[in-house]
Amino acid sequence: MEELVLKSTIQVAQMSELTDTERSLVEQAIAATDRSYAPYSHFHVGAAILLKNGTTIMGCNQENAAFPAGICAERSALFAAGAQYPDQPVIMMAIAARNDKGEFMENPVSPCGPCRQVLIETETRFQQSVRILLYGKCHIYIVDGIRQLMPLSFTEF
Ligand code: THU
Repeated sequence: MEELVLKSTIQVAQMSELTDTERSLVEQAIAATDRSYAPYSHFHVGAAILLKNGTTIMGCNQENAAFPAGICAERSALFAAGAQYPDQPVIMMAIAARNDKGEFMENPVSPCGPCRQVLIETETRFQQSVRILLYGKCHIYIVDGIRQLMPLSFTEF
């Protein structure tokens, strides 16, 4: 029997190592956590998306008493971008999260499974990989394309 070994590459950076564009997007994701509606988890997630035309779109988690009706920051931003700029490829996305004490996570927060699946769809739709910046106080993970986080993904039937 053969073994298939899957490898992912993630860069680990400090804020000072980011480009101005990347830093600005991370700052917008941090700012978006203030708009999060998270009365149940008290976990405030912010996302910021950069489109090819230079527009940025912010998103944040929106919770609901009926838990599954809520949505993550990443999907709220991606769906807003799809609704407002359906023809604009998504180039980059930054994600940040803080707890109920207002403390940002030491280590980067990584998108959940359904958000990864939506990012796969976004990359397939625009034939453009999305550079993903995951903010943590200690360091930032830079992921070049969601396939680094989701190998063997389901894309078509
Ligand atoms: N959440 C996000 O917004 N993004 C993630 O990547 C992980 C989880 C939200 C969903 C829920 O409102 C809260 O964080 C706790 O799971």
